Amino acid sequence: MKGRLLLDFEKTIQQQMKQIRNEMTRFMMNYKFGLHEMNTKIEILKEEFQHIHDYNPIEHIKSRLKSPESILKKIAQKELDFNFDTIRENIHDIAGIRIVCSFVTDIYKISDMIQKQEDITVIDCKDYIKNPKPNGYQSLHLILSVPVFLSDRVEKVHVEIQIRTVAMDFWASLEHKIYYKYDKAIPAHLSKELKDAADVATELDHRMENLHNEIKELKENESEQELSLLELNNDKFHLPAALLESFFKKR
Ligand code: GTP
Ligand code: MG
Repeated sequence: MKGRLLLDFEKTIQQQMKQIRNEMTRFMMNYKFGLHEMNTKIEILKEEFQHIHDYNPIEHIKSRLKSPESILKKIAQKELDFNFDTIRENIHDIAGIRIVCSFVTDIYKISDMIQKQEDITVIDCKDYIKNPKPNGYQSLHLILSVPVFLSDRVEKVHVEIQIRTVAMDFWASLEHKIYYKYDKAIPAHLSKELKDAADVATELDHRMENLHNEIKELKENESEQELSLLELNNDKFHLPAALLESFFKKR
């Protein structure tokens, strides 16, 4: 038979564990809501952009919540105290979104559109495209503060957004896979290979964007020409500029 004192002690521990779990759930929920809000904002921007510019600038979007285990690991690495305030102030990627764009200019367009939104505060912006990391890593990183409207209050949460092209994402995903759990120093010739591969990705981005721009110009010329084309069933008539002009003036 367990003593009364021991039973009371176990009960207290159990109650405290329950309370910690509840607090942790509420804490994580706010980040989940922050993710929802940002994802909706991005979806709206994407759809509107597609309507205005006639193409979709976003290839795909991924979002994730950091696990409590990873949060704990990061807090330990940074040698910080484990409490909610410390986590809030020091871990900015509990809510993380990765936007993979078609072209480099789209990255900046999307980033500007996000940063301009009134209810968003930009905490930090790291441009690893203009200043790639020594290993070759490229992306635009934003740390944002997003308000979450709860039943009785507004809580601001940090959301990390990484914006990159398909080529940058390809490089980063494979680099992560190749070096995952390899803690030792990387031999110089391999670091060079990796950096060279990142340069190839940059070159590919430039080429694809140039192609995109040239085709866009061709399309625009074509649609201008279409304005002066009159189609009747299978017959096509060219409308002379002078004719269009004189009709235009009479209006
Ligand atoms: P943490 O690395 O998250 O502690 O924050 P930090 O302040 O160092 O931010 P940084 O901008 O360096 O990196 C944040 C995130 O970007 C990482 O968690 C990765 O997802 C990504 N990242 C940064 N550097 C690299 C890299 O060299 N390779 C790959 N694959 N991803 C990277
Ligand atoms: Mg880092």
